Formats: sequence, C-alpha cells, structure tokens
Amino acid sequence: MTRPIVVFGGSGFLGDALVRELVEAGRPVRLVARHPAWPSWAESGDPLELVTADIRHEEEVAAALEGAATVVNAVSLYVETRELGFEAIHVEGAGRLARLAREVGIDRLVQLSGIGAESTSPSAYVRARAQGERAVLAAMPRAIIVRPSVLFGPNDAFLGGLARLVRLPAVPLFGRGETRLQPVHVIDVARALARLTGPEAPARRLFELGGGDVLRYREIVELVMARLGHERPLVPVPFWLWRALAGGLSRLPSPPLTRDQIILMQRDNVVADGVGTFDDLGLRPRSLREGLPDSLVSPAR
Ligand SMILES: NC(=O)c1ccc[n+]([C@@H]2O[C@H](COP(=O)([O-])OP(=O)(O)OC[C@H]3O[C@@H](n4cnc5c(N)ncnc54)[C@H](OP(=O)(O)O)[C@@H]3O)[C@@H](O)[C@H]2O)c1
Repeated sequence: MTRPIVVFGGSGFLGDALVRELVEAGRPVRLVARHPAWPSWAESGDPLELVTADIRHEEEVAAALEGAATVVNAVSLYVETRELGFEAIHVEGAGRLARLAREVGIDRLVQLSGIGAESTSPSAYVRARAQGERAVLAAMPRAIIVRPSVLFGPNDAFLGGLARLVRLPAVPLFGRGETRLQPVHVIDVARALARLTGPEAPARRLFELGGGDVLRYREIVELVMARLGHERPLVPVPFWLWRALAGGLSRLPSPPLTRDQIILMQRDNVVADGVGTFDDLGLRPRSLREGLPDSLVSPAR
C-alpha cells in the first residue's frame, strides 16, 4: 500500500486546500489537527484518514507519523495567548515534528513559513517563523521551506476582512497604503505543495510563492471596493496610531488587530530574488484580479 502524506494542520485554510488537491489526485492523505473533521468536499471511500494530535505533544506527533512517507507542516498560530505562545508552535512544535519525522525515516518534509521571516524582526511572530525554519533545518537539513505571501481564496481571512472594512463610511489605510503585497491564491499554493511532495525531488530547498501580480495595499482595497460595488474615501492612518490601537486591543481575548500584523504591514511582502518560485515547479499562479471573482462574491444585482 502507498504510504500516506501527513498534513499537520490539514483542516486549516491552506491545509484543507492541500488535502483536497492530494486526495483528488488519488494520493493517500493523513489529515492531522487537534480537532480534525471530515472535510465537506470529501466522499466516503476517499483515500483520507483523520488523526488527532497536538504538535506540542511528543507521543501524539510520533503516532501521527507512523508509516508515513512525507510530511507537510501547515500548523499555524497568529495570535499569542497567555497559555499558548509562538515559540511553542512555530519553533518547538516545528522542530519536534522534523526531529520525529527523521527518526521514523521520513525523508521529505515541507515546512510552511512566510515571506519576510527574519530573526531580527521587531515582530515576535516573524522572529518565531525564522527560528522555526532554523529548528526544522537543524533536525532535517534537506527539509523544504515554503514561504507564501498573503493567501486569498474563498472564505479567506484577508479579502474577507477587507470586504468588511470597505463597508465603513471611510476606509483607513495602513500608512498611505503603499506597502507592496503579492497575494497568492490558496489553490495555487496547494498545487505547489502537491508538486513538492511528489515523486520528483526538487533541486531547490527554499521557495517563496507569490501571486501573478504585485499590488500596493491601496490598490487591493480599490479592487475589493470595485468588486463589491462600494465607493469609499481612503484615509491614510499613520503607523504609530495603528500601533497604539493594537496595543489597546491586545487586552481582548481575541484581538481583531495585533502589533505583529501592523509590523507585517510596514514591510513589502513580495518574492525575493534567488529563491525557488512557481516557475521552478512549472506552475503559473493566478493574479488577484483573476482570482477575485471566485474569492469574493459580489452582491446580487
Ligand atoms: N493564511 C495566510 O495568508 C498565510 C500567509 C503566509 C503563510 N501562511 C502559513 O501557512 C500555514 C497555514 O496557515 P493557515 O492560514 O492555513 O492556518 P489556519 O487556517 O489557522 O489553520 C491552522 C491549522 O493548524 C491546526 N493547529 C493549530 N494548532 C495546532 C496544534 N497545536 N497542533 C496541531 N495542529 C494545530 C488547526 O487545527 P486545530 O485547531 O483543530 O488544531 C488548523 O488545521 C502557516 O504556517 C501559516 O503561517 C499563511
């Protein structure tokens, strides 16, 4: 029997798209999460099994890897709480998964990270992503690191958030809205991951995946407004004011905005030179303009 591909975080936004891509190609998948559920798109008889495991727990991770050939880490944590920090998930969890994968003889591991992962970042989130990459490579030097730009697609957090924002009487921008982003469709990233877990080992080990166009934040807001038929004034808001707002909101149990998000929005988030890209995988990612209609449903006319 073909050994399964283990997708840690397989019920998340990206994980679900990857699991679907693999299952539809007839490749056996083990979906792992703390609360795994049978996906709504899956049919009985699909080559899919669900396993409950927390990436923080050694025995559960080891059991989830048994008999597997390949593993993808798509576990995420965007907002820290008192009980759960970035370090536990992005650094210790990622390192644990890589070490245990090596111990059971798995030779292909794909670690999801993000563009701009730097250990010197003022953002605790970004620093943890960089340290996580290092922890994975220390345990498994031939692991593949994949850093996507911001993901979009049906029911995403990014465009969904903007769709709510453009209903306000005026739309606040991060600074002057000049930050450049390269939004990438979740299915395009899932296809790239399916290639990276496929039979042909890629020569490259570090990939940055961005969509078909680079847009300023302000341009993305304008595209969303045009798609939803809203016309609102765009109001520049200085970053210091955003930071103050995020500081105030940080006391809420699940803050709608964090300091880490503000720091991320101050830096361009586009594919760097000298890394593996969609091109190296023979794929052409769609642009935000192409993907917008299937991601944001415009109001009935
Ligand atoms: N979304 C983006 O725009 C974006 C951009 C760049 C990079 N990325 C990266 O892509 C990856 C996936 O992101 P996403 O947005 O798809 O995440 P997501 O939707 O938040 O999904 C997270 C997944 O991880 C699982 N999970 C969380 N904590 C866990 C734990 N302790 N043990 C085991 N599983 C756990 C969740 O299921 P349970 O809660 O049931 O455990 C869920 O399946 C992350 O590495 C993220 O940083 C995302």
